[in-house]
Amino acid sequence: MGRLKRTTPIVHTNEVCSRRPADTTGPRHGGDCRPAATALASRHRPAMGSGEGDAMAATALPSSGAPMPEDAGCDAEDLVFVHDAFRRLYAVLPTGVRKTPPEDHRRVARVARGVAMVGDALHHHHHLEDEYYWGPMQTRRPACTPHVELMKQHHARVAALLDASAPLADAWTTNPGAGTAEAFAAHIEEIGALLRLHLAREEELALPVMGEVFSQSEWDAVGAQAQKAYDRSQIFLFFGIIQDSLTPERLDAFIAEVPAAIRILYRLIGRRQYERSLDLLSAGTVRPGPYDAAARRGVG
Ligand SMILES: [Fe+2]
Ligand SMILES: [Fe+2]
Repeated sequence: MGRLKRTTPIVHTNEVCSRRPADTTGPRHGGDCRPAATALASRHRPAMGSGEGDAMAATALPSSGAPMPEDAGCDAEDLVFVHDAFRRLYAVLPTGVRKTPPEDHRRVARVARGVAMVGDALHHHHHLEDEYYWGPMQTRRPACTPHVELMKQHHARVAALLDASAPLADAWTTNPGAGTAEAFAAHIEEIGALLRLHLAREEELALPVMGEVFSQSEWDAVGAQAQKAYDRSQIFLFFGIIQDSLTPERLDAFIAEVPAAIRILYRLIGRRQYERSLDLLSAGTVRPGPYDAAARRGVG
């Protein structure tokens, strides 16, 4: 999801990676883990469900311990657009829980299932990163180990909070009311706050390195793996949110890479599914449409 063709080159400098993580609970940065400057040229990338995906499926996923591939260097920016989707969802979910009418038990149950679905998608996102990114990053750029360890710590803390969500969701669905809703909503806010911190650090400290140590085929293979885990309703929710976060220029590039069949399916049923999901999860407080994703990336 979110496979985008970069429209401008990204230039990495020492300055970005030499900054110590703002999260003071993490390990201190022990050295520069990237070259002085790297420019990644624009690349074409296979699109979701396209014929190119068949070739992509045959590409080996990166394994820990693998040496740096000769064609290392990829467009890793699409990770940010997936992160934007999570940032936006976790911004609306607490309000959705608080404002769902408690007397509508069926709707309460549907919202709880939706929150769990978003949590499952987030868990899956982190699981893929744990499984495929951190090992090769450490092997190929050992100086990045402190950053990798920080990412793992964040993932473990998010996972613990996600695990602790179930009893709060059960309490709300079993006995809907102001107290149970507030306890669940506050917990979701706690997940959202930690997640914003983690995503910002990952984009600052890890993503530039990912763009240098993985080949495009490795990166796309993990992206294809990620897409397999989403059911159709999840795909259209994330597909819609990602589209809404893009500038017109990036949206054009994004749409151009989506196969015609998917575009038609989205127009026929997907957009409506996305609208219904967002309406449900936000208790009608958020309408689908463009929003300022960049404004949500700050850690406050
Ligand atoms: Fe992560
Ligand atoms: Fe991530």
